[in-house]
Amino acid sequence: MVIAASKKTQKLATSIFTELADKKREALKKGMDVIDLSVGSPDLPPPPHVIDTLISYCKDTTKYGYTLKGIDEFNEAVSYFYKQRYGIDVNPSKEVLQLMGSQDGLSHLAMSIIDPGDYVLVPDPGYPIYEHSVMIAGGSIYPMPLVEENHYLPQLHEIPLEVLRKTKMMIISYPGNPVTALASKEFFEEVVEFAKKYNILVVHDFAYSELIFDDNPQISFLSVEGANEVGIEFNSLSKTFNMAGCRIGYVVGNADAINILATFKSNIDYGIFYPIQMAAVSALTTDYSLFQEQVREYENRRNILISGLAQGGWEVANSPATMFIWAKIPCGWTSSRQFAFELIEQAGVVVVPGAAFGKQGEGYVRMAIVQSSENLAKAAERIGEFLRKH
Ligand SMILES: Cc1ncc(COP(=O)(O)O)c(C=O)c1O
Repeated sequence: MVIAASKKTQKLATSIFTELADKKREALKKGMDVIDLSVGSPDLPPPPHVIDTLISYCKDTTKYGYTLKGIDEFNEAVSYFYKQRYGIDVNPSKEVLQLMGSQDGLSHLAMSIIDPGDYVLVPDPGYPIYEHSVMIAGGSIYPMPLVEENHYLPQLHEIPLEVLRKTKMMIISYPGNPVTALASKEFFEEVVEFAKKYNILVVHDFAYSELIFDDNPQISFLSVEGANEVGIEFNSLSKTFNMAGCRIGYVVGNADAINILATFKSNIDYGIFYPIQMAAVSALTTDYSLFQEQVREYENRRNILISGLAQGGWEVANSPATMFIWAKIPCGWTSSRQFAFELIEQAGVVVVPGAAFGKQGEGYVRMAIVQSSENLAKAAERIGEFLRKH
């Protein structure tokens, strides 16, 4: 018997993270000490009261059934969080939908909105699920190049009219992954106007909303006038509260788009474990001063890695936000993949080749600062030694 993957699945390549994990395993087998800066999974713990809430609800034997959809307390907590953090009013029953992380939401959104023949504008480079979700849904992508000379903002006026006529959705993310740039309110205003003109649903991925450095402004897309008419914003507890493994997130904004996704998801999943939902409520209604401490920690890590790399002769751009550094590969190297793979084999440091995030990512690598400052300093030293040998 021949078991064949569907044509859509055949289009999906093996994830770069699987390849990097294999390379890492080989290096470990050889007895090397490996510092992994590849996956953006936070190493910091969730706040203690969040863990206490999770434990106490886990002991309640009545909380092990299907939850079907988000509990009302969760939607109210998201609405409270949006008001407190961004000054935005969000209707908890119509404008909030609970998700098993934004990954879940983004993938199911494409399936619920996109038909074959529809186009989706996606950032290039961009977080892989943007493109993959559209491929799975049978739609077509139009990559919007994010390049340094345009401050990593897409040039909306350059998108051909024949593409715009078929475009149903666009995805943007500021600050994003792997490009960590921030957008201004003026850019978001331009996006709202553009979306209205061409009838395009705007999806803003705001997963790193609370990891913004150097007192840069924190701008929710929904804070712009008219944004709720054209768009939705994904957010997550994964990075803000270090709850990535709990799998809980949410989307807020346009009630019609949220209703479509809610209907789709109601046919697929049976809800999130109740104790996790309550832990998320306790996180979202927390004392937000803890964010400052977290931001200082990441700023410090970023500074240590960047200055360590500079000492080793590799000047990389500063990162204004997120848990990543998006770095141009050193002079003399032409392939981000070759650079990353040789770095694992010879220096025991794992970074992600930029080409894995799209055509425009070639020439860059992404480093996640999800290691202690000591390890980051050690990684920078090893990279310096590696570069001296080449
Ligand atoms: C830009 C971006 N969006 C979404 C996600 C997915 O997050 P979640 O854990 O909420 O599914 C990630 C995870 O790394 C991310 O970097």
